[in-house]
Amino acid sequence: MDNFSDKSGVFVNPSELERQRKFTELVKTVLTARFGNEPKAFVHTYGCQGNVSDSERIKGQLRNMGYTFVLSPEEADLVLFNTCAVREHAEDRVFGNVGALKPLKEKKRDMIIVLCGCMMQQKHISERIKKSYPYVNLVFGTFAVHKLPEMLYTVLSRSKRVFEISASDGLIAEGLPTERDSGAKAWLPIMYGCDNFCSYCVVPLVRGRERSRLPEDIINEAKELIAGGAKEITLLGQNVNSYGKNPDCGVNFARLLRRINDIDGDFIIRFMTSHPKDCTHELLDAMADCEKVAKHLHLPVQSGCDRILKEMNRKYTRAQYLDLIRYAREKMPDLSITGDIIVGFPGETYEEFLETVSLIKEVRYTSLFTFIYSKREGTKAAKMPDPVPYAEKSKWFRELCAVQEETAGKRTASMVGKIYRVLTEPNETEGKLTGRTEGNITIEFDGPKKLIGQFVNVRVTDALTWVLFGELAE
Ligand code: 5AD
Ligand code: SF4
Repeated sequence: MDNFSDKSGVFVNPSELERQRKFTELVKTVLTARFGNEPKAFVHTYGCQGNVSDSERIKGQLRNMGYTFVLSPEEADLVLFNTCAVREHAEDRVFGNVGALKPLKEKKRDMIIVLCGCMMQQKHISERIKKSYPYVNLVFGTFAVHKLPEMLYTVLSRSKRVFEISASDGLIAEGLPTERDSGAKAWLPIMYGCDNFCSYCVVPLVRGRERSRLPEDIINEAKELIAGGAKEITLLGQNVNSYGKNPDCGVNFARLLRRINDIDGDFIIRFMTSHPKDCTHELLDAMADCEKVAKHLHLPVQSGCDRILKEMNRKYTRAQYLDLIRYAREKMPDLSITGDIIVGFPGETYEEFLETVSLIKEVRYTSLFTFIYSKREGTKAAKMPDPVPYAEKSKWFRELCAVQEETAGKRTASMVGKIYRVLTEPNETEGKLTGRTEGNITIEFDGPKKLIGQFVNVRVTDALTWVLFGELAE
C-alpha cells in the first residue's frame, strides 16, 4: 500500500486530501486568470448509478475549483466524460462522442477534454486514446477521482497531457465535495469495488477490490441528505449484500439497513445491486421489518441454467435462487423483483437458454435488464469458445423479451384502480408529473410542479406494459 493511504489501507490519507485542497486553490487562480470568473464545464456520465455518484464527486470538486455547469460541450471550457466499460456498445458510444469533439477543439484550442471512469482504467483503451486522440488532455481511472485538482493543475500549468490510470486496490476518499443532481433523490455509496470475478465481467478489473465505508460515515451522510430535503436514498455498491467485510465496519448490510431505517424523517430507502449468493434470510427479514425500505429487490440471476451459472462463476444454483425468491415473497407478499439476464454467454446452447426462459416465467419479474453477452478483454469468458453467431443470440434475446413483456403487461394491468404513494419527479411534458411505485414502476399523472419532491397518492387509471397512468388521489 502506498503512503497515500491511512493505516487501515482502506481510506485515502487526510493529509493527501488536504494537499488536493491546495491544488484546488491553485487551479482556481489559473482559471480566473485564463477565463475570467466563471469557467464552464460540461460533464456527461455513461453507465451505472455508481458512475453517476462518482460524477457528483467530480462535479463537486470542479465547482470548488470555480467551474459552473452547462448543458452542451459547445458552451464549455472543460468537457468531461465519465465512461462505462461493462459492454462494448457503451465503449463504442464513448469513442464516437470523443471523435465528435475534435472539430470543437480545433475551434477552441484552450478547451480541456477529460476522460475518466471504468473504460479508462483499462490499459488498451488509455493507450488507444493516447495514440489516436491527441486532443484529449487528461485521462484518469476510477482510483484517481480525488486527485482531480492536482491532475488538472498539471494540465493547466504545464500544458501537458496527463494519464493517471495506475492500477491500485482503490482507496475510499471520505469528505469529497459533492454536487448533487436532484434534491429529493439521492445516491449514497456504501461500498466500492467487487471481489466476485463473474467470468464475463470487467468490473473487478477496473474497480478493484471490495471496500466498505464506515457505518458512521454512511449514517451521517444519510442524515445530512434527509436534513437537506432528500426523500429517497439509494444505497449503492456493486454488491451491497457483502457490505462490511473490512475489519473496522462492525455491521453487515442487514444491520446497516436497520440503522438507516431508524433515522427520523419521512423518506424511502432503496439499494442496489444485490448478489444472490450474499442475499441472506437475515437481509430479507430486515427488508421486511424496515418500513422505510422499498419492497423492491433487484436480484440479478444472469441465467437459469446451472451449467452456465457455474461457467459464469456465480456461485449459486437455479434451485438456490428460486428458494431465495420463495422466502422473500413469503416475507413480503407484495415484493417487486427485478433482475439482469445475459443471453448468449460463450458456449450457451438454445436448450440452456430455454432454462432461463422457464426461470423468468417462474419468477415473474416486474422488469428485467437483458443483455446480449459482450466479450470483455481480460476476463475469463473472453477466452472461452463462443460459436453461436450474434444474429442467433439476437433471436434468443427477442424471444426472452417477448416472454418478459407478457409478464410485465399482466402486472401493470392488474394495478389499474389501485392507489400508490409515490415521490413526485419532474416530467418533460408540461403539466405532467412522474413518480415510481415502491416496486419501481413509473406512473405518469397530471399535477402542478410544486408537488415535485413530495410524496403524493396516485390512483392508477390506465396501463401500458412498462408504464402506468394515473390521477392524484386523496
Ligand atoms: N456482457 C453482457 N452483459 C454484461 N453484464 C456485465 N458484464 C456483461 C458482459 N460482458 C451485465 C450483467 C450485470 C449488468 C450490470 O450488466 O447482467 O448484472
Ligand atoms: Fe460484475 Fe459479478 Fe461483480 Fe456484478 S458481482 S460487478 S456482475 S463481477
